[in-house]
Amino acid sequence: MKKIDYTSPEISEKAKALIDRDNEVMFGAHTRTREIPLVVDYARGARVVDIDGKNYLDFGAGFAVVGTGHCHLDVINAVNEQIRRLIHISGSDFYYEPQVELAEKLTIITPGDFKKRVYFGSSGAEAVEASVKIARHFTRRPCMVSFIGAFHGRTFAGMTMSGSKKIQRAHFSPLIPEVYHIPFPYCYRCVFNETYPKCIKKDFEGVPLVYCLSYLTDVIFERLTDPEDVALLLVEPIQGEGGYIVPPKEFLPALRKIADKYGIVLTFDEIQCGLGRTGKWFACDHVDTSPDVILIAKAIASGFPMSATVGKAELMDARVDPKAWRTGAHGSTFGGNPVICAAGLTSLKLLENGLIDNAARVGTFLKQKLTDLMNRHKIIGEVRGLGLMIGIELVRDKKTKEPFPTEVTEDGKNIKEVITGECFKRGLILYGAGISSVRMSPPLLITRDEAEEALRILDEVLTTVERQL
Ligand SMILES: Cc1ncc(COP(=O)(O)O)c(C=O)c1O
Repeated sequence: MKKIDYTSPEISEKAKALIDRDNEVMFGAHTRTREIPLVVDYARGARVVDIDGKNYLDFGAGFAVVGTGHCHLDVINAVNEQIRRLIHISGSDFYYEPQVELAEKLTIITPGDFKKRVYFGSSGAEAVEASVKIARHFTRRPCMVSFIGAFHGRTFAGMTMSGSKKIQRAHFSPLIPEVYHIPFPYCYRCVFNETYPKCIKKDFEGVPLVYCLSYLTDVIFERLTDPEDVALLLVEPIQGEGGYIVPPKEFLPALRKIADKYGIVLTFDEIQCGLGRTGKWFACDHVDTSPDVILIAKAIASGFPMSATVGKAELMDARVDPKAWRTGAHGSTFGGNPVICAAGLTSLKLLENGLIDNAARVGTFLKQKLTDLMNRHKIIGEVRGLGLMIGIELVRDKKTKEPFPTEVTEDGKNIKEVITGECFKRGLILYGAGISSVRMSPPLLITRDEAEEALRILDEVLTTVERQL
């Protein structure tokens, strides 16, 4: 195969000066890429403007965070108003209305018709930590199960539960013991060489079992650990960093059945796929399956740092069940900050009042047009996703599904980076994901015209890249 002739986007002297200053003081593990050397001045809606005045269409939304778009005026006004009343007092210790109101709202919109409790943190990983502490505390069991390809954050619990990239774990051992990773139903590249739906060969308690879950029931639970020792089953209903992978509809209901049978806490990490991105409040709403605990972050406050762990009351409140968290068992100084709660309440209102519907509508249009692109471009192997969470799998050969070799350019860039870099040069921000995919996760307010603009740019980039292959 020829190497693709790829050059990095040009940067101005002004941008270079800031990047140089940044390099002098910021730590070295940041994942800045040479393909998207974006130095931002300001952003509005679905547009980002760099310090040289160049305008970009943002199909990344700051890693699926600005669901309501950049700097929504309603969010700005809500924050301004709250900032004048109270910035901080510690929601773990005192009472104030925005925190209660946001928690009330979350207990309503999250799936499950049962009494719930809410814990606010400041990042997604903190919610993942909380989910581990909830499950172990309540069940008094040690073991946990999560999935290959999952990403759950950078703390010790997040890192341990993740199964994404070895760089995220290297030299940090020992991690948390007794965590088992099992294959996620990444049907396009099934590790068992099975084909959905033929891979469903049996039931679990009357619910169809996709083949990869029989690895849990027949291998992990038979050979490695007694299910009665398992505290937590943690899963992303749609894998995010793993490549925007939507599992078959039978997957979450089967996990629910397995968790119920063995008394395991079932937790859905909807940090990336939740809050309207898929065209419903939560990705698990598409298959009518409720977890015991749901983790929310990213889009909850339109860019202000917040996470929410929402779970069954009996798991999180010793006043309801003595095995649950007691006073002082968990907490956070910044969690539930009043200004961020105000941003959260306004964000949820905006989602509810049109943005979720828009995500469903424009998402359907975008996916259909991307499927047309797939039929015209030899390097798109699959287009998948729900609403405005769309993954595009890039392959060297559609028949064999062979991914591109990691290095497709002279200077070691792989295909995801070539595509995202070329899109950036043309004014479109897109990120890579998974083994060999790019993802589209724009703000939920994008219009059909903006979707068409992104499609035009991507089409042009694919045509240019394919010509060189
Ligand atoms: C599904 C999922 N869980 C957890 C996290 C961690 O969130 P944070 O970076 O806010 O700690 C992420 C971040 O990308 C995520 O996508």
